[in-house]
Amino acid sequence: MIDARRLGGEGAQNFMMLRSVRMPGPLGAVRGVRDAHFFLDLKLAMTTLGTPFTPHATKVMLLGSGELGKEVLIALQRLGVETIAVDRYDHAPGQQVAHHARTITMSDPAQLKALIEAEKPDLVVPEIEAIATPMLEELEAAGVVTVIPTARATRLTMDREGIRRLAAETLGLPTSPYRFCDSQEELQAAIDGSDGQPAIGYPCVVKPVMSSSGKGQSKIDGPADVQQAWDYAMAGGRVAKGRVIVEGFIDFDYEITQLTVRAKGADGQIQTHFCDPVGHIQQAGDYVESWQPHPMSATAQAKSQQIAQAVTDNLGGLGLFGVELFVKGEQVWFSEVSPRPHDTGLVTLTTQWQSEFELHARAILGLPVDTSLRNPGASAVIYGGQDAEGLVFDGVDEALALPGTDLRLFGKPESFVKRRMGVALARAADVEQARVTAKLAASKVQPRKP
Ligand SMILES: Nc1ncnc2c1ncn2[C@@H]1O[C@H](COP(=O)(O)OP(=O)(O)OP(=O)(O)O)[C@@H](O)[C@H]1O
Ligand SMILES: [Mg+2]
Repeated sequence: MIDARRLGGEGAQNFMMLRSVRMPGPLGAVRGVRDAHFFLDLKLAMTTLGTPFTPHATKVMLLGSGELGKEVLIALQRLGVETIAVDRYDHAPGQQVAHHARTITMSDPAQLKALIEAEKPDLVVPEIEAIATPMLEELEAAGVVTVIPTARATRLTMDREGIRRLAAETLGLPTSPYRFCDSQEELQAAIDGSDGQPAIGYPCVVKPVMSSSGKGQSKIDGPADVQQAWDYAMAGGRVAKGRVIVEGFIDFDYEITQLTVRAKGADGQIQTHFCDPVGHIQQAGDYVESWQPHPMSATAQAKSQQIAQAVTDNLGGLGLFGVELFVKGEQVWFSEVSPRPHDTGLVTLTTQWQSEFELHARAILGLPVDTSLRNPGASAVIYGGQDAEGLVFDGVDEALALPGTDLRLFGKPESFVKRRMGVALARAADVEQARVTAKLAASKVQPRKP
């Protein structure tokens, strides 16, 4: 495969001319050049990247600059991309490594529009869900900006209802049984069955439609839990008066994240690439441990890839997706999808030749990707363990003295008991050994108040 090539001579001048009339992003600009028949003899798709702080810089704006955004930003920096890290608070992890740091309320459409219009990025890359996505759709439709993977995908996946209805009702993919409810009465009726709809029954899981990382989510084992689950969902949702999804509980054997990349091949066509399955363990809806590759039967793996392909084909655009799946025997259920790097995919920092962050950076720039595994490995989360600012971390030396380990400390200015402050990584000959080492390394790192 041939990588991105720089345009030279006359081609470069034409390219710059097109850029100066603001084609929609570097990819659009390349399309513009080709459509203008400057390169009829070339079969390869081309991506041209600029130099930061110059008029022809390739500018990428991350909306959300946490630990996942930070790694995407580092990957972009390595390709000479000018980066703008946006978050709701100052000194967010990604802001610490970007060319520019901006702090705004990303759920406020007016603030979002003003920032995008002022910075004029070639690409806008959402890293979180709590964004004014209708404004992104408006700006994308007006040709102001290219949203990764697409503004529509960002809107559909920010809300459990959008993506669940798409997967189950439009695409006909297997999911847990579900209903959406706006009151505790509706929740009870959905569990018991009403209006000719089959009962969701017990046990079931209740989640605010707008929430992530397990916030506001709880399992209901019987009628006595309903009130508490409803109250908890109302307190944990991103919007004050919220709607919930109630899902039948899937008694899965294991769950995986199927990291899936839509990237341009050498011929310029978008191809779908699959990483090896990432296994993980969630506690209270939050990931605590992940590993790769997770062993799967050939049938379950094929079904997982079919589901991932169906969902990502529909969402479209370029970039990496984290497709969350539940597996029992040969049965596979779709759960949800992130149209961006996934927290459980942090493990790929130590397992793949190109981490999920590098894959995302390459794919969104129109570059070729390689999803192959380098070695088995695992990740284990390091929580802050306390509510405090400016933590210090003891035991980093002990963690890194363990064979095959690596560490990321995210640099978050403020810690909460259950806030993810870092992650321990381990590579090993097999996943079991890697898991033991990653957990041990994580336990050696002791956050404390200075
Ligand atoms: N219907 C279900 N049956 C069984 N387990 C479930 C179900 N729904 C969710 N879970 C468990 O809870 C975890 C979190 O659920 P989900 O991914 O829907 O929430 P989330 O808040 O979006 O989490 P995150 O943002 O960390 O991905 C799942 O990974 C799974 O372990
Ligand atoms: Mg999830």
